Amino acid sequence: MGEENSEIAREVARRRTFAIISHPDAGKTTLTEKLLLFGGALREAGAVRARRAQRHATSDWLEIEKQRGISVSSSAMHFVYDEFRVNILDTPGHKDFSEDTYRTLIAADSAVMLIDAAKGVEAQTRKLFEVCRMRGIPIFTFVNKMDRYGRDPLDLMGEIEEVLGIDAVPLNWPVGQGSDFRGVYDRLGLRLQLFSGGAHGTSLVDETDIDGAHDSEPVRAALGAKADELAESLALLEGAGAPYDAGRVRAGEQSPMFFGSALTNFGIQPFLERFLELAPPPAARPSSKGVIGPVAEPFSGFVFKIQANMDPDHRDRVAFLRICSGKFVRGSTVKHVRTGKPIRLANSTLLLGQGREEVDEAWPGDVVGLFDPGVFRIGDTLSEKGDFSFADFPVFPPEHFMRVELGLVEKRKALAKGLEQLAQEGAVQVFAEVGGVNSAPIVGAVGPLQFDVLRHRMASEYKVELRLSPMPHNVARWPRGAFDPEIVKHSQLVKLVQDREGRPVLLSESASYLQRLVERHEGLELADRA
Ligand code: G4P
Repeated sequence: MGEENSEIAREVARRRTFAIISHPDAGKTTLTEKLLLFGGALREAGAVRARRAQRHATSDWLEIEKQRGISVSSSAMHFVYDEFRVNILDTPGHKDFSEDTYRTLIAADSAVMLIDAAKGVEAQTRKLFEVCRMRGIPIFTFVNKMDRYGRDPLDLMGEIEEVLGIDAVPLNWPVGQGSDFRGVYDRLGLRLQLFSGGAHGTSLVDETDIDGAHDSEPVRAALGAKADELAESLALLEGAGAPYDAGRVRAGEQSPMFFGSALTNFGIQPFLERFLELAPPPAARPSSKGVIGPVAEPFSGFVFKIQANMDPDHRDRVAFLRICSGKFVRGSTVKHVRTGKPIRLANSTLLLGQGREEVDEAWPGDVVGLFDPGVFRIGDTLSEKGDFSFADFPVFPPEHFMRVELGLVEKRKALAKGLEQLAQEGAVQVFAEVGGVNSAPIVGAVGPLQFDVLRHRMASEYKVELRLSPMPHNVARWPRGAFDPEIVKHSQLVKLVQDREGRPVLLSESASYLQRLVERHEGLELADRA
């Protein structure tokens, strides 16, 4: 046992499981590909800084393209870099939010917030950031597209602090911007990292490191006229910025900030290396029986995503399990906590990343896909003993609602089945009218794109042409405490429906109507989740 524990401890310590959060077009896909390239390239070329392996780069690129194809529908990509095993959890690259994105963040141990240097903190970044903060996970900031003229780095720092309320602490600082972007000064390592070469689609970049303080002779000599500019910025940072504090980073109160360009590859490897060094390995997680440590506790994990039809030829559903403690062993039997039933982690187990590969063992921080015959739900816990479940898996309040038009009466059964399955998967939330004349179901989503996905999937998987009519509501709240349905019975402003579990839910066009309801009725509380 002791030996196994030390093996688990070793595997946990070398794992980094993170998600990239960003607004569409900030460069998440490009950055992900670059990280994978560095992961793959290093295995072949060894830890050589200046990589000119064009031959390898070409074949790597094809491999990456393959991975990219898979990543669209998969959930985790992994690679090995130095001693680290890196898991990048894929958040869907939609133009829109979906609950999937949020849930993925629950499975991550840290997040990389990617910001377009010209655009700063954008709406979607802010929303995703809030989820990370709710969880208290460390957030690293990468300012991308430095090869273009963007905003002043100090200005971006200020914006992060102001808009997100977190201290941004640059661990490196750009030398130049746009076509003048030459490198970064590494404030922790006290060295100048100068880049040259660089190309889209390869890991081809030359990096020259010059050790020394920013005002040292070698650094000044390398930078020429730019040296004064750098010295001035760094002096400002020393004077005004918060000092780097690992404890505050881990508490999610401070965000280490990096600069670079994913497209040209400048600054990606320096970022990756620092990130792996500073980002946390899988940590203990709260559960119904207290905190579950990754090493001390035997195997456990939770389902954070369910996806149907991964393979269009087979009607399969895959439940993605984030391992939280102990060792995952293929073929072992564990408990499905919600139903109390034993489940064999049989040979249908697969890990997605570099294709579908069977895994024999996996460790905390890893994601495995389990074939799902329809037994799993989002948030389910699997564990060896089955004596706890992971706490409070959040359901996010939908902000968009549509009523299903029941035109195609003969397909009612397929419709009901499809909605039930897609709701179980968490693709949408389904509500029913209470006592009204209209029995048509209502679907709710965090982002409107989920409705397109719903229509598409109902057509392709259940042969139901779904017609949806928009509803004006944009807030859903679950009453707690003293709730009397009579108080909203005749309301034009608040609509009473029920969720799949039969719990009452109030829909409204404005949070302020609901707020007034709470003020007028003592003991009534409204929660934004069930
Ligand atoms: P996303 O996944 O966050 O939506 O962004 P994606 O990587 O697809 O990048 C969005 C656009 O930004 C792409 O351009 C991409 O090439 C570009 N981009 C990404 N990183 C950088 C960078 O560091 N510098 C510059 N200058 N551009 C960057 P596109 O024109 O939409 O597509 P493509 O034709 O280049 O593929």
